[in-house]
Amino acid sequence: MKYFIANWKANKNYAEATAWVTEFSDLLQKNTELQTKLENGTVGIIICPPAPFLSLLQPLTKQFKNVFIGAQTVSDKESGSFTGEVTAKSLEGLCSYTILGHSERRINYGETNELLAVKTAQALKAGIKPILCVRDASDTIFENVTFIAFEPVSAIGTGSNMPAQEVIETKKTLQLPQDAIFIYGGSVNAQTAPEYLQSDEIHGFLIGGASLQPSSFLDIVVQG
Ligand code: PGA
Repeated sequence: MKYFIANWKANKNYAEATAWVTEFSDLLQKNTELQTKLENGTVGIIICPPAPFLSLLQPLTKQFKNVFIGAQTVSDKESGSFTGEVTAKSLEGLCSYTILGHSERRINYGETNELLAVKTAQALKAGIKPILCVRDASDTIFENVTFIAFEPVSAIGTGSNMPAQEVIETKKTLQLPQDAIFIYGGSVNAQTAPEYLQSDEIHGFLIGGASLQPSSFLDIVVQG
């Protein structure tokens, strides 16, 4: 399976998120070839909107096989008096995945490896699979995490994607578990995607900017 993960980051309001879901559903309904790839497990789609829109995605997961909902982070707290926190427990039964350790959170919100170890444990306890983002070999890969997104900071949102060969070379320097799902993120679009998809070493993408429009996201997904 090649995984295509949409990371909307902190974008869209309620109306825009609703419109995205409607358009995405319409486009997917018309694309029988892609539906077949979803059904036979060639392609998997994980959509990670801001937390207020997570449940808007639920109908899509019922309508199409191998379409999943992902959060962009979870709290390090389990539950209780932590006003404003979105806990893994509150996402149980709604989200199958959560992104953790995105460089934007490490850099802007001071998320350390220590904190991320706790968040990872909370996600796993709630039955939510972490998609752990690492920038290089210095970011810790925690036990029981198999889904790793390699995202070099210089490639994120810059239009300057890291060539596939360099991604594969870097992969060798990471302490990955044997059964790792290894995906790449950083300025992926329909033009940059093909060189990565050719390689068995890279199992998909984390897609930011190009996931904000259903059409530009699906232009990448159909290549899977
Ligand atoms: P980008 O973002 O595709 O806009 O470069 C990727 C990411 O940060 O996940």
